[in-house]
Amino acid sequence: MRKLILCLTVCISFTLQAQKGAQIQLHPEKSTQIIDRHIYGQFAEHLGSCIYGGLWVGPDSDIPNTDGYRNDVLEALKKLQIPNLRWPGGCFADEYHWMDGIGPRENHPKMVNNNWGGTIEDNSFGTHEFLNLCELLECEPYISGNVGSGTVEELAKWVEYMTSEGDSPMARLRRENGRDKAWKVKYLGVGNESWGCGGSMRPEYYADLYRRYATYCRNYDDNRLFKIASGASDYDYNWTEILMKNAAYHMDGLSLHYYTVTGWEGSKGAATIFNKEEYYNTIGKCLEIEDVLIKHIEIMDKYDPQKRVALMMDEWGTWWDEEPETTPGHLYQQNTMRDAFVAALTLNLFHKYTDRLKMANIAQIVNVLQSMILTNNKQMVLTPTYHVFEMYKVHQDAIHIPLDILCEKIIDSNKREVPMVSASASRNKEGKIHITLANVDPDNKQEITLDTTGQKFNKITGRILRAGSITDHNTFDRPDLVKPVSFTGAKTAEGQLLISLPAASIAVLELN
Ligand code: AHR
Repeated sequence: MRKLILCLTVCISFTLQAQKGAQIQLHPEKSTQIIDRHIYGQFAEHLGSCIYGGLWVGPDSDIPNTDGYRNDVLEALKKLQIPNLRWPGGCFADEYHWMDGIGPRENHPKMVNNNWGGTIEDNSFGTHEFLNLCELLECEPYISGNVGSGTVEELAKWVEYMTSEGDSPMARLRRENGRDKAWKVKYLGVGNESWGCGGSMRPEYYADLYRRYATYCRNYDDNRLFKIASGASDYDYNWTEILMKNAAYHMDGLSLHYYTVTGWEGSKGAATIFNKEEYYNTIGKCLEIEDVLIKHIEIMDKYDPQKRVALMMDEWGTWWDEEPETTPGHLYQQNTMRDAFVAALTLNLFHKYTDRLKMANIAQIVNVLQSMILTNNKQMVLTPTYHVFEMYKVHQDAIHIPLDILCEKIIDSNKREVPMVSASASRNKEGKIHITLANVDPDNKQEITLDTTGQKFNKITGRILRAGSITDHNTFDRPDLVKPVSFTGAKTAEGQLLISLPAASIAVLELN
């Protein structure tokens, strides 16, 4: 058993010694980056009840729906301002054959979803259903193509089917299937986790294969593809090195996956039952993503100093044990304030690297891993993570304002530093400043002083997500236990903002 090694370190602060507090200094003079809205991307895989039951119930369902999409889920997702949606996997993508999902539904062949519990996939949700969903959500589709078990011809034809306006064979087939106008598809992933479920390849081999597949994925009419190579996971810096060395010229983006997984001895831990040591260890693991990002970016900088190739963190989030009595392999997990902190801290961090990091996709949108929404037949509940994404959407496409934070830190059981306060700031097109703040300390409030010298504003408004306990979560019986409320704990005093941030809380302030 691991020992509890929570020790308080002395903060470098000069003013904070006597109180639990923090100082934040904004640096608008250092603003150079836009926070790409695509950092707020989502991911929907044919896995468990993400698609079937979560997003899609079919037009004949007694669950209220619009052309087969659940109305309650659609309505909730529209409020998130989702910039892009990745589909159909994940691991599923490299076993998916898109032609099985077009034409009259009753003719679609079935398949075994080998990656996710051996469930029978009836292919009723296919290309049309996905791209029409993106239109309903007003988000950009991000298609993940099959490299592992597919062919170059199959992927090339899929691109033609979706995007060709002319009289080409695949455009004709699309028209026969009821869609006259081509869709716009920009983001195209060429394989997924090609080092693992996507084909167990070596990076040298995949780099060549990527180049071959990418060659035949054409730009039809005015559609312009943004081709994304399957990237590394976590600490596999060699994969990024080899891909950048051998294929950077042929790619627009390179992906990276990082999950906040903390379990040991075969168990990832329960989503809703954890002690403070496990909590801080999760926050420590979550924050380690910054070091991982920096190291992959350093390698990309070596081969691409102009930063032409984007880094796409197209899978991230928490991964816990599946909820008891749910279908094995379906990755259905609950979502507490701890998950909300992982979302808030990760997004605050992503904002710092948007000169290279141009997209991120939390895994996954409904009913799988760190989801926005959980459903059970007709019932639906919004998770604490949903509320973070909804509160944070104000940062999308805003100018990032760099900042420094001085605050108390603890050391987690893996000897990682965990600062008690996390923050990020941006200025939007109307000149409004938004500051997102998190106090990860479950027991103590933080008195935060934020220097606003040089910033003009007349009004401060805010919202806060807080919990009585870090294990708090929403259930179908208590759907509103964790939800944002109005926050009035910030006031101005002599060019400073004094913010009293309750224990275990996440807030967004608007300075107007
Ligand atoms: O998100 C679940 C799975 O995690 C994805 O299918 C795969 O890409 C990753 O290993």
